[in-house]
Amino acid sequence: MSKPLRIAIAGLGTVGAGIVKMVQTHGELLARRAGRPLEIVAVSARSKGKDRGVGLSGYAWEDDPVALAKRDDVDLLVEVMGGEDGPAKACVEAALASGKHVVTANKAMLALHGQAMAEQAEAAGVALRFEAAVAGGIPIVKALTEGLAGNSISRVMGVMNGTCNYILTKMDATGESYGDVLKEAQALGYAEADPTVDVGGIDAAHKLSLLAATAFGTRVAFDKVEIEGIERITLQDIHNAADMGYKIKLLGVAQQNEDGLEQRMQPCLVPTASPLGQLEGVSNMVVVEGDFIGQTVYQGPGAGEGPTASAILGDIMDIARGLVIPAFGQPAKGLAQPNISSTGSDAAYYLRFSLTDEAGVLAKLAAILGDHSVSVNRMHQYGHDGKTAPLVIVTHQTPRASLDAALAEISALNASLAEPVALRIESL
Ligand code: NAP
Ligand code: HSE
Repeated sequence: MSKPLRIAIAGLGTVGAGIVKMVQTHGELLARRAGRPLEIVAVSARSKGKDRGVGLSGYAWEDDPVALAKRDDVDLLVEVMGGEDGPAKACVEAALASGKHVVTANKAMLALHGQAMAEQAEAAGVALRFEAAVAGGIPIVKALTEGLAGNSISRVMGVMNGTCNYILTKMDATGESYGDVLKEAQALGYAEADPTVDVGGIDAAHKLSLLAATAFGTRVAFDKVEIEGIERITLQDIHNAADMGYKIKLLGVAQQNEDGLEQRMQPCLVPTASPLGQLEGVSNMVVVEGDFIGQTVYQGPGAGEGPTASAILGDIMDIARGLVIPAFGQPAKGLAQPNISSTGSDAAYYLRFSLTDEAGVLAKLAAILGDHSVSVNRMHQYGHDGKTAPLVIVTHQTPRASLDAALAEISALNASLAEPVALRIESL
C-alpha cells in the first residue's frame, strides 16, 4: 500500500472530535478505499486536558494551531476551529504556504477570504476543500464541481442552516418557545459558537455565497447577499402560515437574472406540500437547476458531529486518492466579479401588522398599499386583544421596492404599533 496521508486537526469540538471518531472507527475501510492509510499525526485545541470523548493519546499535541500547520510530518491540515479571522485564518494560510492541503468547515472564513485562499492553494499546487462548510453532510459542493460540471447553472436555492430549520419546525410541532428550542439546538451541537450568526441568517448567507461562486464561476460576494434572519418570526406567524397552506423556512436563493446575480437569504413561505415545506428538524435541502439536467434536489442532515465529519472525510478521501481540483470548480484567478442584480425578482408577500384597533386604520393602510400598486390577495384579522389588531395580508406579486416604500409609510402611521413583518412567498 502507498504511504499514509498524514493529517493534522486544528479544533477538537463537535466537528473535530467527530472526525477523530470516524477515522478511528473506519480506519481500515478508509485505507482500502483510498489505497493508502489515513493517519492522524497531530491535533490542537485550546485546552489540552478537556475530555472530548475520544482517545487522543496516539497523536502529538500542539498548543499553537499555526505550529501544527507548519509541522514537517503533516500532509493535510483540517481546520475546524471556526472564526473568520484569527487563528483559523492564520493556520490555514500557514498550511498552504508550507505546501499542505487544507480541508475546512469554516464558511465564515471562506466567505471573506475564500478567493485569496483559493489563489494561494492553486499557486502552491495543493487542494483547498470545504464540503463541510455548506449544508452539513450533503455533498453539494461535489455535486456542483463534479457531477453537474457540464451544466450552465441558473439557480441554486435551499434551506442551508440546520439550527434555524430545527427551531422553526420544533416551534411549529410543539409550540415551544423560540428561546427554549434554540437552547436545544445548541446542546445538540448544531449552532455556531455565537448562535446569533445562525438565527440572523448570516451563517446560511455565508454558505449561499460559497455555493453561488461555485455555481456561477464568480468571486465570493458575501457582502452582496441580502440577509434577514428568523428572529422576528413568532409562533403566530408559523400558525398563520400553516392556516394558509405554507411553512416558514429560512430560504436562500442565488440566481442569474437578466440584470445580474441575485443572492438573498431570508425567511420565506413555501407550500406545505412541497419538498422544502416537508423538511423537518436539522435537515437541509439544496435545489440546483442546470440547463441540460433540469432540476436536482439534495437533502440530508445539515449540522452536527456525524454529518459534518462525514463531509470532511469525503474531502480527505479525494485528496488521499490524488484528486486536486480548484476550490470553486475553476481556477480562482478566472472567477469573475459578479454583476449584482439591482431589482431582484417580484413575489407575493405575507404581511403582518400590529395596529391600533380603531376606525379608519384599515382604510389608511389599504390606501397606502394601493398608492404603491401593492394589490391585496387575502386578508385576516386574528387575535384582537382590545387594543391591538394583528392584521395579516397576503399580496399579489409585487416588486420588493414598491412593498418597501409602502411599508415605510405604514410604519410611520401613529396607528402602527410595531414594525411590520414582510415574508416573501417563494414560487418553487
Ligand atoms: P466547537 O465545538 O466550538 O469547537 C471548536 C474547537 O476549536 C474547540 O475544540 C476549541 O478548543 C478549538 N479552538 C477554538 N479557538 C481556538 C484557538 N484560538 N486555538 C486553538 N483551538 C481553538 O465548534 P464546532 O461546532 O466543532 O465548529 C467548528 C467549525 O466547523 C466552525 O467553523 C463551524 O462553523 C463549522 N461547522 C460546524 C458544524 C456543526 O454542526 N457544529 C457544521 C458545519 C460546519 P477547546 O475545545 O479546547 O475549547
Ligand atoms: N450552525 C450551522 C447550522 C452548522 O446550524 O446549520 C452547520 O453549518
